[in-house]
Amino acid sequence: MIIAGNWKMNCLKNDATILVNELIKEDAFFKESEVIIFPSYLLIPHIYPQIYSTNIKLGAQDCSISGHGAFTGQVSTEMIIDAGCEYVILGHSERRLLCKETSEDVSKKFLKSFSLGLNTIICIGENLKDRENNTYLSVLKKQIKMSLSNFEKFDFYSSNNKLIIAYEPVWAIGTGKVATSENIIEVHEFIKKFIKDYFKTNIDIPVIYGGSVNEENSSEIFKINNVDGVLVGGASLKADSFLKIIENSI
Ligand code: PGA
Repeated sequence: MIIAGNWKMNCLKNDATILVNELIKEDAFFKESEVIIFPSYLLIPHIYPQIYSTNIKLGAQDCSISGHGAFTGQVSTEMIIDAGCEYVILGHSERRLLCKETSEDVSKKFLKSFSLGLNTIICIGENLKDRENNTYLSVLKKQIKMSLSNFEKFDFYSSNNKLIIAYEPVWAIGTGKVATSENIIEVHEFIKKFIKDYFKTNIDIPVIYGGSVNEENSSEIFKINNVDGVLVGGASLKADSFLKIIENSI
């Protein structure tokens, strides 16, 4: 199971040290899962020495479309790798909403991050209106087609790094409203099948669920057959909660 903790724009250095210290006390546990934390860019070099010999992996919450150059305020994939990251999250709904990031941007970032060897988590998810209007599957289809428009450039059978899709219904993020098991089963099945049909591949792309996952609801989510892991926001900032989620995944 993949257990990804998206810290978003939270934690100062001191909070991060304390949180990571609590997590690594249970490091032996993590061998059985794929545990990744995604701190802010500035915390990555601070945390790297703490975790580099543990089973916790590091990731960044975004990357630039471009390589080095005159791109004020941006961080390149090369810099992320240089800082010790093995993963990146792309197209999180907060970036799509607050930074007006489009699926075309995500697809360009994917081309960059995946070709440089990063394990890449691409987030997709419908908003409440799409869910209520019953248009969510066509919205998701569009996001997949466009965000993965570079899919065919890669041979996923022989790549050392992987592509992971995170299904994060926007209405479930930070709201305490988790999707039902039926919602998750339906959408994960849809995503896996659509990728196979549309890109004419047999490869089984891992699909993880995100949106108000916590220590209480995670066991139910892990029981679902086509769930390959979770992307956790709020509950990844509390060591006890995040550890319990990891424990529930085993
Ligand atoms: P949440 O966030 O767990 O706080 O709902 C999930 C996410 O945004 O990845």
